[in-house]
Amino acid sequence: MSAIIDYIETNKEKFKDELFNLLRIPSISTDSSHKDDVRKAAGFLKEQLEDLDMDRVELFETDGNPIVYGELITDESKPTVLVYGHYDVQPPDPRELWDTPPFEPTVRHGDIYARGASDDKGQSFTHIKALEAYRKTDTDFPVNVKFILEGEEEIGSPHLVPFIKEHKEMLACDMVLISDTAMFAEDTPSITYGLRGLAYMEVEVTGPNRDLHSGVYGGAVENPANALCEIIAKLKDGDGVIQIDGFYDDVVELSDEDREAYKNLPFDLEKYKKDLGLKKVYGEKGYSTLERATARPTLDVNGLWSGYQGEGAKTVLPSKAGAKVSMRLVPNQDPNKIAQLFKKHVESIAPDTVEIEIRAHHGGHPAGTDLSFYGLQAAADAFEEVYDKEPLFSREGGSIPIVADFEKVLGAQSILMGFGLNSDAIHSPNEKFALKDFYRGIQTSAKFFEQLPKHSK
Ligand code: BES
Ligand code: MN
Ligand code: MN
Repeated sequence: MSAIIDYIETNKEKFKDELFNLLRIPSISTDSSHKDDVRKAAGFLKEQLEDLDMDRVELFETDGNPIVYGELITDESKPTVLVYGHYDVQPPDPRELWDTPPFEPTVRHGDIYARGASDDKGQSFTHIKALEAYRKTDTDFPVNVKFILEGEEEIGSPHLVPFIKEHKEMLACDMVLISDTAMFAEDTPSITYGLRGLAYMEVEVTGPNRDLHSGVYGGAVENPANALCEIIAKLKDGDGVIQIDGFYDDVVELSDEDREAYKNLPFDLEKYKKDLGLKKVYGEKGYSTLERATARPTLDVNGLWSGYQGEGAKTVLPSKAGAKVSMRLVPNQDPNKIAQLFKKHVESIAPDTVEIEIRAHHGGHPAGTDLSFYGLQAAADAFEEVYDKEPLFSREGGSIPIVADFEKVLGAQSILMGFGLNSDAIHSPNEKFALKDFYRGIQTSAKFFEQLPKHSK
């Protein structure tokens, strides 16, 4: 192991330069004008794997973005780890709020600033570099490893689900290793054992056949913006409880044990408020902030449009209004069922003075890992060796839709070994990833592979 640690130590600059080359590629999956860049990022990763003398490296075409695959089988009797990551990123908008350009990675105060630095290029790259450390020092790799790197996570992994169904045998594994989550706090290694699911809806309300003079017609014609606001206002009550019929039917309530575990996490509410500039926190009555953010379902407007947005006052009664609404889901809610319930409910409360159209976008199932799973123990040992601290076990509010499919299709649980921080500003301007966690991530990954055979039966 010391050869590996030495290799990581001496190659820090090289690792950083390589990650920077990956971060310079604007592989934005939501924007079709960046299709070639997405492909370029896939090609870059394929070359990275090809340099590691694996048994097989392949770029699989799909009807969308390519899937990069690599495998190294050392001994069939050893456990097989499937490493998952995504090389696509969110759009950088609003660009003007970045202090340095999103696709020109820059280090400031020990942090790498770039779109994708944390989510998920920087985090997923740690595992490639860990494998490199074994290969380039001629150290026997302790387990079998397969890599699956996709370019459509940020758009709901539409082609990965059919892909894993079609390649079950190739992807057969004992567990999935993912670094695409956050640590609980700085220098606080954490293993995530729960992720929320997602149902994402779009509502469009249409009133008159054109925008109208709000003086000539106002009061006599329903305003779709007003109607939409009324609909949205009725979706939750004053206690933050979602009013959609049947919404909570399948929700698994927190057990007393769960709630006790939540209380023991080192969460600092005052710091949380200060970091976000909040005067007061908000949420469903009867639950703590951590519970609200990770273990309870939500309903939030993510986008809202109607009427005049320009400077000054234009007196207009808009013809249309629209909203994008996301619902984060917890075990055992089903995104398709929730989308149906939302549609039915909104249709039932919409005033009959307007037309309403409701569409479902991509979604995802909630997912979790059994705390007794042996892979988690190997991950905990690896974290402890590198961070000199036992990791915490926590649930997170974000979603990685494919995790539930790995479980369903491959029967494999996921180890969510996040090296990011909630303050990394993923999806926001000035996304960052701490350089020290990039390096500690590589070390932790290398240690994990070393630890794993000791924990498997
Ligand atoms: N890496 C995130 C998910 C995440 C972030 C999990 C922080 C836990 C902590 C992932 O890339 C992401 O953004 N997922 C989307 C899923 C959606 C596009 C289907 C999300 O959660 O909004
Ligand atoms: Mn991600
Ligand atoms: Mn993301």
